[in-house]
Amino acid sequence: MYVCNCNGIRERQVRAAIAAGATKPAQIFKACDSAAQCARCVCDMRKMLDESRETMRFAAE
Ligand code: FES
Repeated sequence: MYVCNCNGIRERQVRAAIAAGATKPAQIFKACDSAAQCARCVCDMRKMLDESRETMRFAAE
């Protein structure tokens, strides 16, 4: 599934960027060799970042 239609960034690429240490949408774009265009995907990226943080928080408890 595509998260970013402008750059053709898939969900698995976003998850890989987060796993590699991305903490902001700008870092996800950079990891995917792209840049925000319409920025409609930024909300979804933030949601995925939040989910990842929650997962890490529960794992640490
Ligand atoms: S959908 Fe990602 S920049 Fe437009």
